[in-house]
Amino acid sequence: MKDFLNFQIQGKHRTCDVWLCPENNLHLKNLKLEPFDIIICDGPYGILEPECEWDDFDLNTKEGRERFRQHYRNLFDACLKHLKKTGSLFIFNYPEGAGIIKSVLDEEYSVHFRRWITWVYENHFDFDKGTNFRRSHEAVLYYTKEAKGFIFHGGDFPDVFSHPIIKAESSPFKDGAKPLETIRFLLDATACPGGRLLSLFAGSGTDIAVALEHDMDAVGFEFNKMHRELIVERIKERVQNDL
Ligand SMILES: C[S@@+](CC[C@H](N)C(=O)[O-])C[C@H]1O[C@@H](n2cnc3c(N)ncnc32)[C@H](O)[C@@H]1O
Repeated sequence: MKDFLNFQIQGKHRTCDVWLCPENNLHLKNLKLEPFDIIICDGPYGILEPECEWDDFDLNTKEGRERFRQHYRNLFDACLKHLKKTGSLFIFNYPEGAGIIKSVLDEEYSVHFRRWITWVYENHFDFDKGTNFRRSHEAVLYYTKEAKGFIFHGGDFPDVFSHPIIKAESSPFKDGAKPLETIRFLLDATACPGGRLLSLFAGSGTDIAVALEHDMDAVGFEFNKMHRELIVERIKERVQNDL
């Protein structure tokens, strides 16, 4: 993987490998990689914020919804071939985006829907306050590649969980970092120590940090150079201090 930045870092019980790819994640289509146990997708939500030019899908228009559908088709065409038969796929979105993505996956791809998980946050007090019903939850679609033989560790994992959202004004990362706890919740149920996680939209590196906590190797795609630098800094610092 010649374009990837690669480094080894100590996980909880084993040394893990991290690869960071500076390309658009659609390059996955042409890559030959060892298959993944878990893929996490925190891509476009249809947010339409000017500073987030990669997320310019207006889900209130027919044209915007069709572009959104096509974006996710291209992404699934590129990444699903890299998911192991025992593997899991998690997709974050607002419920309205998740509904569209779910219909694409269910109708057009050979994957198995397992659960619509709801992540509730009550700390975003100003989100559309006074102009709409205030947004206080997001969806996480949980799929497996096959209907049987996937990894699920048992235990009590309700399909609604609550954890505060990280608000942009309280974070150095302005592009919507997920809290470590939300990713931990998913990986505590499905992680595969010694296995591999693919973070399609690596952002600030949350998926990678949690993969390392679960002794998994990680590959992250992130086309923003500043974000990649932040990931390297964060992962090295985090692993030294926290794991
Ligand atoms: C919502 S953020 C992901 C945040 C991440 N889950 C976290 O916790 O930090 C999406 C990230 O994906 C990157 N991105 C968007 N489209 C991409 C693409 N097609 N290929 C690679 N990176 C992309 C953006 O630069 C941004 O950093």
